[in-house]
Amino acid sequence: MPAVSVQNVTKRFGDTVAVENISFEIPEGEFVVLLGPSGAGKSTLLRILNGLTQPTEGTVHINDNPVTGRRSDVGMVFQMHYLVETMSAYRNALTGALSRVSLVESLTTQYERSDKLAALEALDTVGLLDEARQRAGSMSGGQKQRVGIARALVQRPNLLLADEPVASLDPKAAEEVMGYMKTAAHERDLTTVASLHQVNLAREFGERYIGLRDGQVVFDGGRDDLTMDVVDHIYYDDEEAGMVEAMG
Ligand SMILES: Nc1ncnc2c1ncn2[C@@H]1O[C@H](COP(=O)(O)OP(=O)(O)O)[C@@H](O)[C@H]1O
Ligand SMILES: [Mg+2]
Repeated sequence: MPAVSVQNVTKRFGDTVAVENISFEIPEGEFVVLLGPSGAGKSTLLRILNGLTQPTEGTVHINDNPVTGRRSDVGMVFQMHYLVETMSAYRNALTGALSRVSLVESLTTQYERSDKLAALEALDTVGLLDEARQRAGSMSGGQKQRVGIARALVQRPNLLLADEPVASLDPKAAEEVMGYMKTAAHERDLTTVASLHQVNLAREFGERYIGLRDGQVVFDGGRDDLTMDVVDHIYYDDEEAGMVEAMG
């Protein structure tokens, strides 16, 4: 049984086809990088996987269960961290547990001891145990993203999704955050799909790559198959790519 199964998924917004007849399966524990230029459909696909957006056609299954709405067993890391700046890293991480409790419980915010331990463990995984008490607002962009990853881990997800998690970071911080995300995924054998637009980072961290262009899958393969030609095909018009080639 694959961890994720996407079958003939299409998403239209009026006349715009954001995602067009996409199918793929992801085995448990695989770290997949979604590549594609702006507008290719990466965010739409991730939102469909997360149940935040309903596909116009097609189906998505996670561990054999159809995705019909927002799922608590899918963790998401966004480009912007959406942390509560006045709360500590620890408190922010702990809010990941809220997705598993009822609204009433979340209002009283009586966290279980196991959740508190999970928050500390997750902060340890992203290298922030010593900063657990630090206010999120006083942290660097890279640290905030790591707290965002910790929060997603506290959710105890079966699937981790990340939509351009390092797009707003400088190259060094971006590399660090991706490193922690990969470690976290491997430690927990967590199936992960992360969209990245930096090809060099993608090359360093991906195991499998799905390339989107105009809402369609134009590449699905491993690192060795991700040649410069393939990257050109994903990112540039053929005419443009031809020109680049002609210019040497
Ligand atoms: N809520 C929406 N309403 C209308 N069009 C949308 C909406 N979300 C995405 N689109 C369109 O769908 C296409 C894919 O967008 P998106 O998934 O955001 O791509 P990416 O994340 O790769 O940049 C784009 O043409 C975008 O304008
Ligand atoms: Mg996007």
